[in-house]
Amino acid sequence: MANIQVDERLRHIAFIMDGNGRWAKKRGMPREYGHSVGAKTFERVVRHCGDIGIRVVTVYAFSTENWRRPQHEVQAIMTIFAEFLGRAQKQAEEYNIHTVFLGDKSIFPPEIRARMEALERDTAHHPLTLNIAINYGGRDEIVHAVNTLIAQGKTEITEDDITANLYTAHCPPPDLIVRTGSEMRLSNFLLWQAAYAEFYFCDTLWPDMDDAAVDAAVEAFYARKRRFGGV
Ligand code: IPE
Ligand code: IPE
Ligand code: MG
Repeated sequence: MANIQVDERLRHIAFIMDGNGRWAKKRGMPREYGHSVGAKTFERVVRHCGDIGIRVVTVYAFSTENWRRPQHEVQAIMTIFAEFLGRAQKQAEEYNIHTVFLGDKSIFPPEIRARMEALERDTAHHPLTLNIAINYGGRDEIVHAVNTLIAQGKTEITEDDITANLYTAHCPPPDLIVRTGSEMRLSNFLLWQAAYAEFYFCDTLWPDMDDAAVDAAVEAFYARKRRFGGV
């Protein structure tokens, strides 16, 4: 059971789930194995975030740039994703999760896309929001928002217009962005929403991310002083 509880200062936590490939390589295993174990880690981390009182969890699962990887790796990730879709409905019921996909869904086969949309619709009554960023790019998201506004006939737009047309329109911006796997970059994640997010980078490779490592990120967040440009 969780021993820490968050408050309204930490409504939304986002994870850049990095390091699956290196984790597998260290074990003499193919990168794909890291992605399978990473998927299990993701499910556990989401549950833990719910247990400690976080209302919105976002995970970066696959970027618009990740299609550049070797075809067998992309294929393996998509298979893992399809398997996840197979059990997601049941898990959503069990852990009160409303799943939302961030990113351009049009790239997925119709069958997968239908399952994604069904999951979003059928879990919408649950209080814990889980955003899964898949085929997601922060730049792509902003361009998509602007094109939506142009299609509505707008000739001048505000910050609120853009915010309201992002894939994340249903939730507050991330308070904390955690990146595992040692790299200190955003890699095109939540570019607009990250304006005042706190960042936490750690050396843990994603498959090793456990409850204690999440708690360490949360504790680091509470040690920060957020000013939002004030004094
Ligand atoms: C993150 O792990 C998962 C995805 C990007 C799909 P990586 O696959 O990037 O693992 P490393 O960074 O190569 O270790
Ligand atoms: C970021 O990880 C994307 C996801 C975790 C899905 P990458 O491994 O793709 O990022 P780079 O290439 O190191 O910037
Ligand atoms: Mg990586």
